[in-house]
Amino acid sequence: MPQLDLEKTLQRIKDNQWSLADFDWDAPGAENIPEEQWHKLKAFMADLTWIEHIGARGFAAMAKKAPNDTLKQIYEWFHAEEQRHANAELALMRRWGMIKDDELPEPNINLRITIEWLDKFSDDMPLNVLGSVIPMLEVTLDGALCKFLLEEVKDPMCHEVFAKINADEARHLGVDFHVLEMLGHGPKYRIALETLATAMNPKLMLGIFAYFPLLNRMRDNIVKMGLKEERLYEAMAKFKKYGGATPEGRANPWYQLMVMHGGWVIDRKNKLYHGPVDAMVKMSDYIPTWLMPDVPSWVNKLTWRPFA
Ligand SMILES: [Fe+2]
Ligand SMILES: [Fe+2]
Repeated sequence: MPQLDLEKTLQRIKDNQWSLADFDWDAPGAENIPEEQWHKLKAFMADLTWIEHIGARGFAAMAKKAPNDTLKQIYEWFHAEEQRHANAELALMRRWGMIKDDELPEPNINLRITIEWLDKFSDDMPLNVLGSVIPMLEVTLDGALCKFLLEEVKDPMCHEVFAKINADEARHLGVDFHVLEMLGHGPKYRIALETLATAMNPKLMLGIFAYFPLLNRMRDNIVKMGLKEERLYEAMAKFKKYGGATPEGRANPWYQLMVMHGGWVIDRKNKLYHGPVDAMVKMSDYIPTWLMPDVPSWVNKLTWRPFA
């Protein structure tokens, strides 16, 4: 990937802002969701909304850590954009009769745990960790899920909305991979030492316990939607390709760890990984919701209302 001009990117972000009011949410086409798709789509959209939220929270944490002001501003815009994606998806759910008025969809338990972790610990994570995990989450969960959806859903409004969302996402990925590469600059021993120090942080370990089952849960949900899990793996391969396009990118140990982990996820025959992680997914189904703390306050900023 060519070097990214962050100033130009920031300008492009500002020039391409859109809002929920740009759409006529009552336009015909909502009836194109067949009965047999409706329930699956409802669960899928609920997850997607919350994944946008995870992205939003991640960018908020990144903004605080940004090494320069341009990048800080970019992350602040991205934070707002992910919230807008969540809101647009809520508006679609409302259009399809999946949620009522101010109702928020229920996130699956693994998303719930991840959100909890982000809220408590993401601000304590160094830029390096966030800057490596976010591109993976964006390319697999945010990016890939949005594209899958377009193949399945026949409502033209859905396509209009996701054209905007995907254009935003393309800019997110450009910056994500730029930063991933940036983080690999510097003497190797220094990066390695920092990585080791961070990897021993118990807060990060907790994050891993949230992240591993989340990916397997999302894989299962994708299959439930009637989509091929290979599509998710193709998206993960993109992380490897773009993230490793330069020597600096490859020199980032977090990139290497993400790629190694991606290899385990893709390989269903790897029982050593999938055995325990699938068990964690099953186990998390038994966590009673009353045990989970209330949703964090930033969630209340979610709304389908166009003027927000
Ligand atoms: Fe998004
Ligand atoms: Fe994004």
